[in-house]
Formats: sequence, C-alpha cells, structure tokens
Amino acid sequence: MKKILCIGAGYVGGPTMAVIADRCPQYTVTVVDINEKRIAAWNSDDLPIYEPGLDEVVKRCRGKNLFYSTDIAKGIKEADIIFVSVNTPTKTFGTGAGRAADLQYLEKTARSIIEHADSDKIVVEKSTLPVRTAQAMSRILHSNTRGLKFQIISNPEFLAEGTAINDLMNPDRVLIGGLETEDGQKAIEEVAAIYANWVPRERIITTNLWSSELTKLVSNALLAQRVSSVNSISALCEKTEANINEVTAAAGKDTRIGAKFLKASIGFGGSCFKKDILNLVYLCGYYGLPEVAEYWEQVIKMNEFQSRRFVANMLAAMFNTVADKKIAILGFAFKADTGDTRESPAISVCRQLLEERARLCIHDPKALENARLDLEDAEGDITYCEDPYEAVKGAHAIAVMTEWNSFKELDFKRIYDSMEKPAFLFDGRNLLDADAMYEIGFNVYPIGKKAKTHF
Ligand code: NAD
Ligand code: UGA
Repeated sequence: MKKILCIGAGYVGGPTMAVIADRCPQYTVTVVDINEKRIAAWNSDDLPIYEPGLDEVVKRCRGKNLFYSTDIAKGIKEADIIFVSVNTPTKTFGTGAGRAADLQYLEKTARSIIEHADSDKIVVEKSTLPVRTAQAMSRILHSNTRGLKFQIISNPEFLAEGTAINDLMNPDRVLIGGLETEDGQKAIEEVAAIYANWVPRERIITTNLWSSELTKLVSNALLAQRVSSVNSISALCEKTEANINEVTAAAGKDTRIGAKFLKASIGFGGSCFKKDILNLVYLCGYYGLPEVAEYWEQVIKMNEFQSRRFVANMLAAMFNTVADKKIAILGFAFKADTGDTRESPAISVCRQLLEERARLCIHDPKALENARLDLEDAEGDITYCEDPYEAVKGAHAIAVMTEWNSFKELDFKRIYDSMEKPAFLFDGRNLLDADAMYEIGFNVYPIGKKAKTHF
C-alpha cells in the first residue's frame, strides 16, 4: 500500500484527498494540518467546509484509508508522496506587498519535510504558486544533510468551490509538471498513476515544471478576465438598454467564445482570482514586462469598479441617501453552494453601505458565521438573520449578493408586503425574474439591464 500525505487540510487539501482516497483504495491517504480545530472538525460529523457531496465521500473513506491528523512528523516519515496544499495568500508586508505571493507557509512545510523525512520522496505542489517556485522548493529540500533526494512535481488544482466534488471526480484535465530528466519523468508517472484510477489518460496532461506552475495562474486569470469583460459590458448595457443576458447568450453561441462563465455579477470573489492575478502582475513586473502587468491589473480594477458602481446605483435610485434605511443583504458567500466568503464582493458592498450609514440585515444559508468574522471590525448597525423573512421585514431595499437557488423559492409577495415603500430590489446576480418582481410592486435594478421602476 503506497502512502500519500497531504500537508494543509483546507478547501483544497480536504476534498482533494477525500476523492483520491475514495477512488484509490490501494493508497493510504493522510491529511495533516497545524490547525488542530480544523483537523478535529474533519474527524467529526460537522466538517470544516460546506461542499455538496463532500460529507458522503469523507464518510465512505474516513478511518479506512483516509485519515486527518495533526501528527505532521509521523505523516512525513511514513509518506511516499507528499502533496503540499498550504495557503499562499498575497503578501501584506515588505517587498511585493499587496501583489507577490506570501510563500512563508510553503517554505515552513519544506523545512518540516527535511526535518522529519528519513527516505527519498516525491513532493507535489498542489498549492497555487508563482512560476519557478519548484526551483526554490528543490533548493530548500536538497539542503538536507542526509543525502535525501526529492523530486518536485507541480500538480495544480482546478476545482471550483460549490462544485468541488464533481470537479474532482470528473476533471476537464489533470495537469502534472516535472523535470525533463529520467527521475523527473518517473515521478510524473507515479503521480499520474494515482489519477489514472478514475481519470481517462487523455485528460492527464504532462508538461515541464514551469509550464504547469504558470498554467494555473493563467487559467484563473483567463476566467477572471471573462467575468470582468462581461461586467464592463454590463455597465454599457445599462446605459444603452441592451440586455447583458441577451448579449452574452448570443455572443456565447459562437463556439470560439463558448457559453460558460459569462454571467454578469457584482464582481468575482473567492480566495484565488484576485490573489492569483496580483501574483501574475507581480511576476510580469519582476521579469521586466510592465505592459503585460498593466494589462492584467485592469481585470482587478474592473472588478472593483463593478461593486462601487453597484452601490452608486443603489444610492442614486434611493434618492441619494441610504442613511438610517434598513437594507436586507441576501447572500454573503462569494458564490452559491459554499459557506466561503473570502474576497466576497458582499464584503465591499456592505462596507460601502455602512459608510453611507445604512442599517444592514444579512442573511445567507451557509455563510453567516464567516460574514460575522468578515465584518467584525466594521462600524455601524449590522444584524445577522437565519430567517430571510426576518431579514427583509421593514427594509427599504433588498440587495442580492449570492445566487443561492433557495432565494428563488422565497415568497416575494409576502416579502414585498413586509417592506417599507417604495420597495427596491437590487439584483447583483440577475437571479430573480425582474418582470415578476416588478409586477409584485418592486422597483427592480438588475445588472446590465434596464431598471424596471414604478416612478
Ligand atoms: P486554506 O487556507 O483553506 O487551507 C490551507 C491550510 O494549510 C490551512 O488549514 C493551514 O492551517 C494549513 N497550513 C499552513 N501552513 C501549514 C504548515 N506549515 N503545516 C501544515 N499545515 C499548514 O487554503 P485553500 O483554499 O485550501 O488553498 C490552498 C492552496 O490551493 C492555495 O495556494 C490556493 O491558491 C490553492 N487553490 C485553492 C482553491 C480553492 O478553491 N480554495 C482552488 C484551487 C487552488
Ligand atoms: C475558481 C476557478 O473556477 C477554479 O478553476 C480554480 O481552481 C479556483 O478559482 C481557485 O484557484 O481557487 P472558485 O473561485 O471556487 O474557482 O469559483 P468560480 O466558479 O470560478 O467563481 C469565482 C467568482 O466569479 C465567483 O464570485 C462567481 O460568482 C464569479 N463569477 C463566475 C461570475 O461573476 N460570473 C461568472 O460567469 C462566473
């Protein structure tokens, strides 16, 4: 039985290893973390992250060939293959602050590997990293004084939250990069053999190390660029009475463009798009390519513009003041089907509304606990409501921040009746049927479409 270890039991390490354990009964998979609370939660009935289908997979394997533990030293000693899935946030200090990736957690992991390893190992970069990190990783690992040999493999993760289990079970591709040496190719094959248990071979792509590392940043940049492109056009649609849904549906029919990932929104959130583009921008600057850096930076600027524009539209519609008005925030997660609120556009929208002295009542089916933490330091009147009908009672406006399906099932006649009049509905996700909402009595402001008002 081969032994796999994953260092980092977060949104990536937890689900990815659960699926590997599920699909590969011949491997023992252990996931370790320095965060004891997180490991305790992985070992409980209340997993630390919400992800559809995750509970079932964990329950099938945990205690059989899937283990969550805080014993990092033992895990490292026993493992043949070590995946590193620690966080790589944007640096907040020193050189490259606000752009470069903070690699301190990765380096600490490398150092604990050489402290505890007593045999050669394959070390797999699962975290998203700047291109050429494998070189630094290799130098640190080979500074060991016991002559131990490590092969570094890049195997970036492409799962999206909310659909992680399906993405892992049926990936579009698995990318594995390694050195173009005999040992490098052997290590690639060892990692490919894991995925080959359930992923068709033609979807397992192998490249050199640097292509693999860079592909991860580029994939996220291209996806985020699509959202910013559509959101920029949504602003033009609102000025011209074009309808963003009609525009993207028609443009997306061109198979070269494709229909996916063209939904206008209040902006992209999530822990990675912004961080990875900033990282790309930093790398381009570092390698003396300021024009390329500036090109990609615009994707982030457009995203920030979109949430400011949303709040500006709210203010303009509500007679230029929201001071002391109750606003119900429906949804706080950065997308549906997750409790994750990292970089959620709802954070920026709420902070802007609080600065305007609005009173906020926030409802989200899975993200209320995180919302509380995100707004812990915010000054102003905020309440958190488990019940959506409580959240909207007496509100002047509703702002839809997350495309939860459950919101579509709400009784909007009842909601309208319980609100102050005129009642405003700002749909940051184009989730609700604007015509039906207008018929009920709302003044409706979708994204990238003409507003429907009773004035
Ligand atoms: P996360 O913050 O949820 O999890 C990282 C975990 O690593 C934490 O639990 C932390 O305690 C642990 N950790 C940090 N240093 C450690 C150490 N020295 N030893 C042991 N454990 C340590 O992060 P995440 O969302 O899982 O992301 C991990 C990486 O994967 C990032 O590089 C991210 O860019 C990338 N990624 C994330 C997603 C996603 O959907 N979240 C998708 C693809 C790639
Ligand atoms: C994204 C990528 O899709 C994954 O492939 C990648 O692995 C991951 O980042 C990562 O590296 O962390 P994720 O952020 O979980 O996954 O979710 P997405 O579905 O990509 O959504 C990101 C944001 O864009 C969300 O706020 C979403 O609401 C927004 N979005 C997405 C839109 O506004 N419009 C769209 O058409 C699509």
